[in-house]
Amino acid sequence: MYRIGILGCGKMGKIYARIFARNESAEVVAFYNRTHAKACELAGEYGAEAFEDWRKLVSDPKIDIVGICTSSNEHHAQLLECVKHKKHVLIEKPFAATAGEAEEMMSAVLASDVKVLVGFQMRFHPVIEKVGELLKNAGSIYSVDFYFGMYRPEVTWRHKSDQGGGVFKELGSHLVDLSCMWLGDYSYVSSVNRTFGEGREVEDLCQAVIEYKNGALAGISCNYWDRNGRAIHGRIMAENFQISFSFSSYDKADSKVFLYDSTGAHEIEIEFPPESDVDEAYPGHLDSFKKEIDYFIDAVSGGIDISASVRAGAESMLITEAAYASQSKRAFINVER
Ligand SMILES: NC(=O)c1ccc[n+]([C@@H]2O[C@H](COP(=O)([O-])OP(=O)(O)OC[C@H]3O[C@@H](n4cnc5c(N)ncnc54)[C@H](OP(=O)(O)O)[C@@H]3O)[C@@H](O)[C@H]2O)c1
Repeated sequence: MYRIGILGCGKMGKIYARIFARNESAEVVAFYNRTHAKACELAGEYGAEAFEDWRKLVSDPKIDIVGICTSSNEHHAQLLECVKHKKHVLIEKPFAATAGEAEEMMSAVLASDVKVLVGFQMRFHPVIEKVGELLKNAGSIYSVDFYFGMYRPEVTWRHKSDQGGGVFKELGSHLVDLSCMWLGDYSYVSSVNRTFGEGREVEDLCQAVIEYKNGALAGISCNYWDRNGRAIHGRIMAENFQISFSFSSYDKADSKVFLYDSTGAHEIEIEFPPESDVDEAYPGHLDSFKKEIDYFIDAVSGGIDISASVRAGAESMLITEAAYASQSKRAFINVER
């Protein structure tokens, strides 16, 4: 039985607790939160211990796995401490607050025996799995375009530069990850970002383009201003066909994939999981968090090499930082490796 400690008891900490608790090899035993009362509340719910100091949780020998669900500025110190204490980690995206931090975290993980998975759970969404399957027969891919808008009128850590905020970092990181998964090696990044909200220090609207070495382009449009924005929309143009798809956090019915080829338009069937596997708070994620956590536990048990995940986390941060440099320099930024 793996004993789980969770850092951060906000939205994601609650999801981690709920879903780790559903894995038969995992037991949620500890919580930490900056505002201690929230850790006590969740600890009461799960019969777990509430820590006032996250370092004490991470160094506690009774913990095997740490879930990092704090604001992004906390990820660097917390992950390095976990590696030091040989704890396996599921860490939320964005992997870090800066590309430099991400690089250091990746190197520490790769030099250790701990398993670390970055929380790009969209990879496990049935829509994304289906699109990946279809792309095997697409021929050359010309472009991947994503749109992700949410309405976030408040000002929180998500809008502060020293707390790892920024809509491209927060929402865009998933889309950067998926684009790189499908398109491979990247070469240039360009981006135009805007900050419209009062009291915000970082972008709340962003239009970025990633150029790939095979000539393909990824367009990523994200914002915190879409009052009607629940679904993520994607469109892929390829040699043999076009795919349009969507999915959202909130509504299972948003999960759709259409393929357009020389014979016309085809709605592609999605394999929906059993109702019991669908997360009740975010039903549109279907079973992606569960699949991610089950996959992570399998990796920790020894079956799967997940070293590619921290590389993906660091790459996503490299591209994010290049997007910010592109805005400030008004230039195309070379990110070739
Ligand atoms: N995979 C996904 O789809 C997904 C979705 C949403 C978020 N995320 C990621 O998950 C992480 C947490 O997001 P969330 O939605 O759970 O956020 P949230 O509900 O706002 O919770 C944030 C957590 O971080 C703590 N925190 C906030 N600012 C802090 C600071 N300056 N210093 C130390 N701790 C701070 C909060 O403590 P207090 O309670 O004391 O404020 C709380 O524990 C982020 O990395 C975010 O990007 C991922």
